Amino acid sequence: MTVYLNGRWLPMEEAMVPVLDRGFIFGDGVYEVIPVYSRRPFRLREHLRRLQYSLTAIKLANPHGEAEWTALIEALIACNEGEDQYLYLQVTRGPAKRDHAFPPVVRPTVFMMSTPLLPPDPVLKQEGVTAITAIDNRWLRCDIKSISLLPNVLLRQLAVEVGAMEAVLLRDGFLTEGAASNIFVVKDGALHAPPKDNLMLAGITYDVVVELAQADGIPVHIRRIAEAELRNADELWLTSSTREVLPITRLDGKVVGNGRPGPLFARMDALYQAFKATTMRGG
Ligand code: PDD
Repeated sequence: MTVYLNGRWLPMEEAMVPVLDRGFIFGDGVYEVIPVYSRRPFRLREHLRRLQYSLTAIKLANPHGEAEWTALIEALIACNEGEDQYLYLQVTRGPAKRDHAFPPVVRPTVFMMSTPLLPPDPVLKQEGVTAITAIDNRWLRCDIKSISLLPNVLLRQLAVEVGAMEAVLLRDGFLTEGAASNIFVVKDGALHAPPKDNLMLAGITYDVVVELAQADGIPVHIRRIAEAELRNADELWLTSSTREVLPITRLDGKVVGNGRPGPLFARMDALYQAFKATTMRGG
C-alpha cells in the first residue's frame, strides 16, 4: 500500500511522523474520508469544501488548493489497488515544541492513505443493524471534522461492547447524530433529520440522501428531533461515506417500526445505488 506524506509517496511501513507532531500530541488536526467507486472519487468537491471548512474553523491554512488536492487524490487512487477504495486524508498543525498555543511557524503534516472499500454486507440491508442510544457528551463544535475523536471512540465502543453497530447520540433530549454517522428518522412516509448545526458533522452522505429524497418527491423535514420521536420512528437509517445508507432495526434492544427494513429504506437504497452508478460513469 502506497501512502502520501508531505510530498512523498511511500510504503505504509516507511511513513513516519515526528513524535512532536501536534496531531499526535494534541489531536490538533482535521481529516476527511472520501469514497472512491470504479476509481472515481465520490462527491470530491463537497469533501474538499468540508475540509476547507474544518481547516478554517481550526485556523490552519489549507496547504493545497482544490486543483492540487484533486491531483494528489487522483495519484493516490492510481497507485493503490481496487476499483472501490476509501481515502483517508488528514492535515495536522505539524511538529513543534509542545505548547498549547500555535507555533510561530506552522509546517502542516499532510497524510493520505487508501483502503479497499467493500460494499456493506447485503445481510445488513436485508436484516438491518442494531444501535443503542447514548448521551452525546462531546464538545460544541461537532461540525469540525476533527481528528480528536476520543469521545466518538468511547461512544462507538459502548455500542460494540453490547453487540450493536452504532451509538445514536442524544443531547438535551434531542437527536444529534451517530458516533460515526448521521441519523435519519422516517415517520408516516416523510424523512426527518436534524439540522446541520454545530452539534453534528455535516455529512456528505446526509446531503446526498436529502437531495435524492427531495428529487424523488419524498417529503423531507430538517428540524430538531426529540427522543420520543426517535423511539417512535417507523424507520431509522444511518448514513456515512463508508457504510452508505443502512437501516437500524433495533434500538436499545427494542424493534424499530415492525423490526424490518422499511419501504422507504428500500427506495432510498435503490436511489443511492443508481446515483453511485452515475458517478462511476463519470456523471
Ligand atoms: N465518519 N458524523 C460523524 C461523527 C462521522 O464520523 C461521520 C463519518 C459522519 C458521516 O459523514 P459522511 O457522510 O461525510 O461520511 C457523520 C467517517 C466515515 C469516519 O470517521 O470514518
